[in-house]
Amino acid sequence: MDGIKVRDIAFSIVQVPDLELLEKFLFDFGMSRAALENDTLYMHGAGSQQYIHVAQKGERAFIGHAFYADSIKDLEKLSKLESFSDIEELSSPGGGNKVSGLDPDGIEVQVVYGIEEREVDIDLLTPNPSNLGGKGKENFKRINKTKRVGKPRSSVIKKLGHAGINVTDPKVSLTWYNQHLGFIPTDIVEVPNTDIYAAIFARCDLGDELTDHHTFLIQSNLGSEGKSGLNHISFEVVDIDDVFLGHEVLKEKGYRHEWGIGRHFLGSQIFDYWRSPYGHIYEHMTDSDVFDNKKEVEKTSIEIAAGMQWGPDITNTFGNKEGV
Ligand SMILES: [Fe+2]
Repeated sequence: MDGIKVRDIAFSIVQVPDLELLEKFLFDFGMSRAALENDTLYMHGAGSQQYIHVAQKGERAFIGHAFYADSIKDLEKLSKLESFSDIEELSSPGGGNKVSGLDPDGIEVQVVYGIEEREVDIDLLTPNPSNLGGKGKENFKRINKTKRVGKPRSSVIKKLGHAGINVTDPKVSLTWYNQHLGFIPTDIVEVPNTDIYAAIFARCDLGDELTDHHTFLIQSNLGSEGKSGLNHISFEVVDIDDVFLGHEVLKEKGYRHEWGIGRHFLGSQIFDYWRSPYGHIYEHMTDSDVFDNKKEVEKTSIEIAAGMQWGPDITNTFGNKEGV
């Protein structure tokens, strides 16, 4: 198998009947419109990604995810494999090229290269410094200055952080994503007394370069009544204030809260999960672990994976078939 190693996740793709309704939610969640063309809505965050979310008009469905390749040669490589299409030019904002294919569960996988980055406002992406207290000037990053975080406002999204899918067999899917896109496991969640994996938290293989603890979560569809599809989409925000500010805005607007605010064990990030008007789960998160490709895989329990270091218990609806 002559696959590639993707650099990161690029965008998620859903399909909904009312793009205006979804755009309102995504705006309140912290995104802005990049373009609306050919019945397709492209939304960006505050980071350099031209867009981080794509919604096409149609019957409610989850379509798939796109990942960044490092070069056009990588797209050429994939296009030679049976699982992927020929290279196509993108007519969406920022241009570029893509190949597309289907994973073992029929979930669409796009790999893109050459999409121009958007200009960013560095000030917007720079966290307001925090004072740590105690003694010693080095503990104080904000001296003779007040901290004002701009309430009320939506979260500032740095990038699409990671995404999760529910699948028939996480082992089979990991093999596929490893062979085609280079994903490697960080944490494997075992079902006790079986050789079944409940979930695999997988990361990009960037060699010595750092990458997120998980860019892709591959979870068993046993929790979604055997239905494969979306588990959740996660967006990295600037800092913890952004998680809480976003929470207040979404609550005020009457959106359905799913789970949070808390701090996960696997990935260590502070999380907050919401449902879109179409039931898909969207996460705000910050302060995630980062690893290079030397970190050894670990095996862990469902309790740890579904638990949190602090925060409310996981809901019994998280990851269910409503969101797929
Ligand atoms: Fe997540």
